[in-house]
Amino acid sequence: ALKSNLRHFLDIRDHSGKTLRTILKTSARVKAQQVGRRAPLHPARALEGRSLGLILAQPSTRTRVSFEVGMGQLGGRTTVLSPGDMQLGRGESIADTARVLSRFLDVIVLRTGNDAALREMAQWSSVPVINGLTPVSHPIQILADILTFEEHRGPITGKTLAWVGDGNNVATSLMEAAARLDFKVRIATPEAFAPNPEVVSWARENGATIDICTSPEEAVSGADAVLTDTWVSMGDSDRDARLSAFRPYQVNAELMAKAAPGALFLHCLPAHIGEEVTEEVFEGPSSVVFDEAENRLHSQKGLLLWALGAEHD
Ligand code: CP
Ligand code: NVA
Repeated sequence: ALKSNLRHFLDIRDHSGKTLRTILKTSARVKAQQVGRRAPLHPARALEGRSLGLILAQPSTRTRVSFEVGMGQLGGRTTVLSPGDMQLGRGESIADTARVLSRFLDVIVLRTGNDAALREMAQWSSVPVINGLTPVSHPIQILADILTFEEHRGPITGKTLAWVGDGNNVATSLMEAAARLDFKVRIATPEAFAPNPEVVSWARENGATIDICTSPEEAVSGADAVLTDTWVSMGDSDRDARLSAFRPYQVNAELMAKAAPGALFLHCLPAHIGEEVTEEVFEGPSSVVFDEAENRLHSQKGLLLWALGAEHD
């Protein structure tokens, strides 16, 4: 079992709507105050003397830069590590790595292609561990997505978000958030790429309305936002099969026209123009993808403050 007094952030489902709201409120506050940028006074030093270890077993642009910069803007420092540079890459155990790093660091972010490795790190760590993406889930992305949706459209409660394409890690965290924050999710994927049924059941049991179908038109019909992601995630090897299965799932202007008037387009990035989204939609007026990318910074600052017990309530 995880050490229950630690503020790990492994999955959205591990946290109440109230905790998620605290993190999001803290994120909005640090954003409004431009903490660490234009108003580098006291809140910016909230994490002075604290150290983040960012372990990236896979590539990253947003997660890496937003955590590193965000930690710096809060007065702390970051060590970026890749398993290949660590003894972990030569066979040192996760248990020993976690116990040693816990003696140096105040918080750990881990991105790994092995979800079990994240859980094991959290089990052995005596400092909070944050999921920086695994093939199973990507909870920090969804914090940024909710912050972005609410900035543009107000409270997400009761709204409908459509997910089109691959029922992947990001879709999992979206469904978990729907249960915790009371919004509706409609997911359209090819049969073979449907979202994890255990997560669908969990979200439904926890009060979320989750509709699963294979028709992108049905999923987006009247939706307040349309989300998609790459058709080929890190670790996927079946690129050709995926590209052909997903072709009918492209988010284009015709599909967006079926969503509610003024519906937002979100994408966690990196995007593949001409695959999961057309240039017209990506660059068009409904697209908030760069606000969403920016909000990775603010939402992770809120998350770091929460993980280290320095959130604003
Ligand atoms: N969206 C996201 O997590 O981006 P990176 O892979 O660049 O971190
Ligand atoms: N689903 C994608 C998200 C990248 C940020 C992946 O796992 O590669």
